[in-house]
Amino acid sequence: MSTTDYAPQEREQWGSRLGLILAMAGNAVGLGNFLRFPNQAVQNGGGSFMVAYFISLVLLGIPLMWMEWGIGRRGGTFGHSTAPGMFQSLTKARLVRYLGAIGVVMPLLIVIYYVYIESWTLGYAVSAIGGSLGEAALAGEGSGFFADYLGDGAQLGFLGNETWQGSNQAIVFFVITMAVNLWVLSRGLSKGIEIIAKIGMPVLVLCAVALVARVLTLPDQGGRSVIDGLGIYWVPDWSRLFSSGAEVIWLAAAGQIFFTLSVGSGAINTYASYLSNDDDIALTGLATVSTNEFCEVVLGGTLAIPAAYLFMGIGEVEAASASNMGLAFVTMPQVFANTPLLGADPGASSVAVFGTLWFGLLFVAGITSSLALSQPTMAFLQGSMGLSRRKAALVVGGLIAICVGPVIVIPGVLDEIDYWAGTFGLVLFSTIEVILFMWVFGADRAWAEIHKGSDIQIPRIFKFIMTWVTPLVLLAMLIAWGAQQAWPILTFENSPGGGAYDDAGRTGAVVGRTIMLGMFLLFVSLVFVAARRGNYDKVHQGEAA
Ligand code: ALA
Repeated sequence: MSTTDYAPQEREQWGSRLGLILAMAGNAVGLGNFLRFPNQAVQNGGGSFMVAYFISLVLLGIPLMWMEWGIGRRGGTFGHSTAPGMFQSLTKARLVRYLGAIGVVMPLLIVIYYVYIESWTLGYAVSAIGGSLGEAALAGEGSGFFADYLGDGAQLGFLGNETWQGSNQAIVFFVITMAVNLWVLSRGLSKGIEIIAKIGMPVLVLCAVALVARVLTLPDQGGRSVIDGLGIYWVPDWSRLFSSGAEVIWLAAAGQIFFTLSVGSGAINTYASYLSNDDDIALTGLATVSTNEFCEVVLGGTLAIPAAYLFMGIGEVEAASASNMGLAFVTMPQVFANTPLLGADPGASSVAVFGTLWFGLLFVAGITSSLALSQPTMAFLQGSMGLSRRKAALVVGGLIAICVGPVIVIPGVLDEIDYWAGTFGLVLFSTIEVILFMWVFGADRAWAEIHKGSDIQIPRIFKFIMTWVTPLVLLAMLIAWGAQQAWPILTFENSPGGGAYDDAGRTGAVVGRTIMLGMFLLFVSLVFVAARRGNYDKVHQGEAA
């Protein structure tokens, strides 16, 4: 193939600094903040989890955020918006471009199930407005409503059901959600993603603040107060953090930091690649983290758990959290059915108003993140394969359409992809990034790269953390995984959740892994094709060796 075949599209740019900040915040703030965070916190010891969470934020989350902005912008200055080219801009070793394929495939794999769950929030918002959700919640039939929405007996590992019998609602809202995502992506960065973030982020915060205000002003119920509910997060049991089995808490906390900040997926890097060397990344990266943490800990932390605790008590909170999706889709409508609206008795109108705010904010949180998770693949197809925006969006849609079927229909596939792409893969990809940036590219150069155009000087302690602590913690996590879990999981003996696979679970795991391997091989091949077209030849041009 000759280099003339290669016709990269013109590189895109953010329209404004405010747009960039909101888009980055939208990238990070997602379903993870409002759905995953409360569940993870309750399942892993509440206050003890929060201690591990904040330590992970400082040692892993914030450093990785800065590094990904640095790696992304550096790649961008050489015309690359995705990890293969970005990694190539850090070293001339060719292997790294293939490792970079992980940063294109992984976010796409996450999008496959992320958009599906996002579509439920849209369907639920519509049901809240239409009144059917209110009727079900008032009749105490929230679980049945959820099962009906998904298709009676729908598979989903975390619901524990076995066979999928189809649900028009779930399919219709999935298709609508997918179409909206693809339409926005096809409009590009400043006219699509940025506009959605500029409208969506303020709407999201307003909805969340309105709900938080309502939750905090609720009177005590049966001797329980909202403040006691908040105590679930804020009263640590220090002994649990250092006793046997504590590694589960630490791993869950670190996993939540990766997922919620979107670090380790390639999505932050791609957004950062549209910046120039004059742009600040130190302060803006920190602003992204702060916004995300405000939305997660302050807003997300004050909503579902304290409200559910108030009306239903700790037993129900723990049961709802253990079922993962149950908290948001079953318990919350029930909570709203008990919540007085403007002094009136609680009832259908409470569910209509609060349910619309809740599911509306989840949808907005979801879409700003799913757009970000799709953008690396979009950027790769445009920049490295020479496709137009529209064609790239069609290919992304096609790939998701092919993969989502098994995710919906076959039990265990969703969990398997969530484990490898949404959990393990984030740690793996982060480790590769840190080693390449801080050790191969070099800590001094990396530090200087992050400070180019910067509005602040990052405290020097972070240079030490990024060079030593972050990589060592990541390597320790991978080594511990290798020693304790890798073999039984890789040989299909144990499920990532810990227990042994049953036959159905094993089938799901095989299908899930086949999808992931297939996608990875596809993108490694595309990186190979891009390399043959000379895509990575000019990366170091103009730089001293
Ligand atoms: N960071 C995104 C979330 O929290 C993916 O959902």
